[in-house]
Parts: sequence; structure tokens; C-alpha cells
Amino acid sequence: MRHFLTLLDISTEEARHILERAAFIKAKLKRGEAHQPLKGKTLGMIFDKASTRTRVSFEVGMYQLGGHALFLHASSTQLGRGEPVADSARVLSRMVDGVMIRTYGHDIVQNFAKHSAVPVINGLTDLTHPCQILTDVFTYEEHRGAIEGKTVAWIGDGNNMAHSWINGAVTFGYRLKLACPKGYMPDDKMLQAARHLGADISISEDPIAAVRKADLVTTDVWASMGQEAEQAKRAEAFAGYCVTEHLMAHAAPDALFMHCLPAHRGEEVSAEVIDGSQSVVWDEAENRLHAQKALLEFLLA
Ligand code: CP
Ligand code: NVA
Repeated sequence: MRHFLTLLDISTEEARHILERAAFIKAKLKRGEAHQPLKGKTLGMIFDKASTRTRVSFEVGMYQLGGHALFLHASSTQLGRGEPVADSARVLSRMVDGVMIRTYGHDIVQNFAKHSAVPVINGLTDLTHPCQILTDVFTYEEHRGAIEGKTVAWIGDGNNMAHSWINGAVTFGYRLKLACPKGYMPDDKMLQAARHLGADISISEDPIAAVRKADLVTTDVWASMGQEAEQAKRAEAFAGYCVTEHLMAHAAPDALFMHCLPAHRGEEVSAEVIDGSQSVVWDEAENRLHAQKALLEFLLA
């Protein structure tokens, strides 16, 4: 039994296999052909934070694979009243075939997985968002071919998405250049661990240096879920980290722009960039469905 708590829980070969299956499953869906390897299987989806894409893609994905998904908002379960995570894991995993969790502390999904008899998928924690990076690499490669050896620029907060791009540099072999303001750098342990595993990652406070000749430019909100009270302070710290057309002009001429969404136009990205010709954010959002169906097939079939 396997869990997917970070990208590093699967090997490069396994990640490659999942992305190949994602392309196959997407093409089948577009041809109107059924693909139902999960008939009779059930996925429990625990949400302790808001979601549009993650919830809809997992729920629709399970249905299309022939299975069923249960939406469990943490606050309306006994978890929200203090039932221990370990007990919830023991009970739920006797009834469902897989569990997806979106929550705050990464230790919560680790603890759940430790006591679960079925695969657990991280649907976003404060630390990482691995399903999004699987999807983002899939999306890049649909548009531009192999990402290995290409340069990805991350602009903004050293948050859960930045951490997953760091892990992705290990798995997929792209070069990663991050630009984050002082005080908002990614977790140093994750950075060093990725470098130790061979990832080519540089980090500075200079967005122009990070974007120079990049093949993909990506960013995320300045205040993540749970950080709403820091919004004003963060807006000040991140001034100068907006991905504008001026910044994109330093990237490779055919560079793509990605954002996991939801986005704040005029903060981390200008409307001209996110709604412009280099942006592939709508393909990226749709691909959550296809990439996660391949992940579900890999873990649950
Ligand atoms: N990108 C992403 O995970 O979106 P949601 O928060 O809408 O699920
Ligand atoms: N960093 C954002 C990603 C949302 C999909 C957050 O954690 O809120």
C-alpha cells in the first residue's frame, strides 16, 4: 500500500508512468470512451480548508473512474470535535478504499497515513501541494515537451507550492530558480534535502534574475489559506514580486505562465499576464482532473 503525501513518495519512474497514464486517460475521455478501473471503489475526501479545483477534480475523477467520492468537511465530522486523527484514520480506512486530505499541518496527513489501512493522498497542507505539481509538469509537457533540463522560475512566497516545485526539481530534473523576499524564503531543510538528491536549485531575492531565460514562470498568492490576517503585511513585503509583462519579457520568448489558482490579479500577477497569450492556467486547472485520475488509478486500482 502506498501513500502520496509529497512528490518524493513516488520515484521518477512512477511519476513518469502516472503522467503517461494521465495523457492516455485524458485522450480517452476526449474521445468519449469510458475508463472505469475503480468500479465499486470509494474515496473519502476530508477538507479542513476551502477548495474549488481539488474537490471537483477528485470528485468528478472518482465518478469517471467508476467509483464514488465522499465530501467530508472536517468541521461536520467528529474530527472537528476533537476525535483523534489516528482514530479517524482507523475507522475511515475500514470503509473506504482511499482518503484524500486537505488540511493545515503536514503532520496531520502523516499521522493519518500512519494509522490508515488504505492509501492517503495529500490534497494540500501548509507544507506541500504535490497533486498540483504533477499536474503542472503534465501541463508544461503538453505544451512544450520534456521539462527535464528546462528552467522554471518561481516568484513570490516560499510556500507549499514553492516547496512542491522544489521536490519536483528532484523528480523531474528541471532547473529551479526561486525569487522570494527576505523572511518568506522556502523551508531550508526541504531545499537542502532536494539539493542533496541532485536538484539544481538557486534562490535569491531578485525576480528578474530568477526569470531570466526561464521556460516557465510561476507564482502563487502572497497570503495562503490560514494566513489571511497577514495579508496587509505580506502585500508590503511582496511589492516588486508581481509577475508583470515587464518581468515576463526577461524570460525565454516562448515561456509559459502558470498559477495553481485562485489568483489575485494586480497582486502576485497582472491581469495582462494571467489573461495573456503565455498563460496556460485554464489548461492547468483542467489537468488536475486528468493527472489525479491517473494518480487514483496508480494508488487504488
Ligand atoms: N489549486 C488548487 O488546489 O485549487 P483549490 O484550492 O480550488 O482546490
Ligand atoms: N498557497 C495556496 C495554494 C492554494 C491552492 C494556499 O495554500 O492557500
